[in-house]
Amino acid sequence: MPDASQRNRPPPMNGAAHPVVVQGGMGVAVSSWQLARAVSRRGQLGAVSGTALDVVAARRLQDGDADGDMRRALAAFPVPDIAQRVLDTYFLPGGRDAGQKYRNVPMLTLQPSRASVELVVVANFCEVFLAKEGHDGVVGINYLRKIELPLLFGLLGALLAEVDYVLVGAGNPAEVPGLLDRLARRDGVALSIRTQGTTSKDGSFAVRCSPRALLGDGPPLARPQMLAIVSSTDLATGLAADPSSRPDGFVVEAASAGGHNAPPRGARQTTEDGQPIYGERDEVDLPAVLALGLPVWLAGGQASPDAVQAALDAGAAGVQVGTAFAFSAESGLDEALKRRVLDSVVAGDEPVVRTDWRASPTGFPFKVVEVDGTLSDPQVVQDRPSVCDLGALRTPYRRPDGDIGYRCPAEPAAQYVGRKGGREANTEGRQCLCNALMSAAGLPQQRPHDYEEPALVTAGADFTAVASIARSRPHDLPYPADAVIDYLLPRS
Ligand SMILES: Cc1cc2nc3c(=O)[nH]c(=O)nc-3n(C[C@H](O)[C@H](O)[C@H](O)COP(=O)(O)O)c2cc1C
Repeated sequence: MPDASQRNRPPPMNGAAHPVVVQGGMGVAVSSWQLARAVSRRGQLGAVSGTALDVVAARRLQDGDADGDMRRALAAFPVPDIAQRVLDTYFLPGGRDAGQKYRNVPMLTLQPSRASVELVVVANFCEVFLAKEGHDGVVGINYLRKIELPLLFGLLGALLAEVDYVLVGAGNPAEVPGLLDRLARRDGVALSIRTQGTTSKDGSFAVRCSPRALLGDGPPLARPQMLAIVSSTDLATGLAADPSSRPDGFVVEAASAGGHNAPPRGARQTTEDGQPIYGERDEVDLPAVLALGLPVWLAGGQASPDAVQAALDAGAAGVQVGTAFAFSAESGLDEALKRRVLDSVVAGDEPVVRTDWRASPTGFPFKVVEVDGTLSDPQVVQDRPSVCDLGALRTPYRRPDGDIGYRCPAEPAAQYVGRKGGREANTEGRQCLCNALMSAAGLPQQRPHDYEEPALVTAGADFTAVASIARSRPHDLPYPADAVIDYLLPRS
């Protein structure tokens, strides 16, 4: 007999039921609920980004929540006291005063405070709730496996809002299917956390989440489909081989995709300007992945009607597309940045996109678009006072006194190297992605003397779809997400 969470699971996917287009998760807040909703309404899979939603929700509330969307979502949260506490802490009727800085959210740790856990759960709930509102299409949420501390609480919030798909990239998501099974039953879960400077003899370090302790009892939650985002045949094969890690499908992502990319395999080889060199070994053996018997979507430079058809002809379920949606009207990318890139594309310029192996504190290569006034400009980097006050990419480490500390290679070197014993070489070229991506999402922190945190824009290497759609309607930009669907699926 399947248990209740299994019964609640959507039916196994079969050819006809798959959405052909997955709108890829794009953090931070680029794949906003508005974008995911627009895509899901069209019968495709819209995915919100689950990255740093605690900060995003707190900032939207501090900006006054002019349209009332956040407050409407909060009112639907199943435990009203929790939603009320979040509202009381962050909501500013009428928004911040000019130049007023955002109040920051507490940084997460292995034993986070109740307030920070509540904020993560509520923020993930709200994003999915809003993406699902007003239609009966399917909605997904995307997480980076590397961002470990909020993961359990984010998943719980998304499940409470009845998310249909959970997509996980940037790391090995082997534990996620099992976590979803347990969370759907409201059972307690734990996630082991890699802690530098410790060995297995020190005991395991873990984040724990007890849905019942947090929310009280309630009915089982629907167990969403889980799609693993992979860039290697071995990872896909390994995940599929074990029933406990077998996902419900794969997104196979090429190195041309926007955001973080898997590092190339084998010896570290770079171009003269430090970009990773990918070779034949980095190419996924698609027939081998298809032979695992799970639906597969192809990602990275797949945004064309021909690519969609080729993917279907090859036996894939469809494609996952990011960049073309990132520059659509509904995306959360800052309007001025969006406009600047679109105007230059319409004028015939191809944006320069680098794969930067140093920028991201995660250590993964990260795609950076060269845009004036952003951290793609070394002068802007040099002028930025180094500060770490969001900490989403901090990782735990064992301090000399035996306690656990947290550090990020993009934090001020005096802290990372001087106080926390990190390796200096590790800090080279790192960018504060937390603050930069908040700015790219139109939620920049204000610093003293009218200084605003600069943005960093990420996108895939292939702008063909952006150019084609934007040039077909140069007086009506940014184009709606509908235009991307119409372009990809001309007969839909
Ligand atoms: C602005 C932007 C942010 C992204 N952020 C994420 C992310 O947070 N998590 C993730 O799994 N993929 C992320 N991606 C990758 C997309 O989900 C998608 O796989 C990719 O963009 C597909 O390639 P394309 O850009 O050539 O269409 C991001 C892509 C873009 C353009």
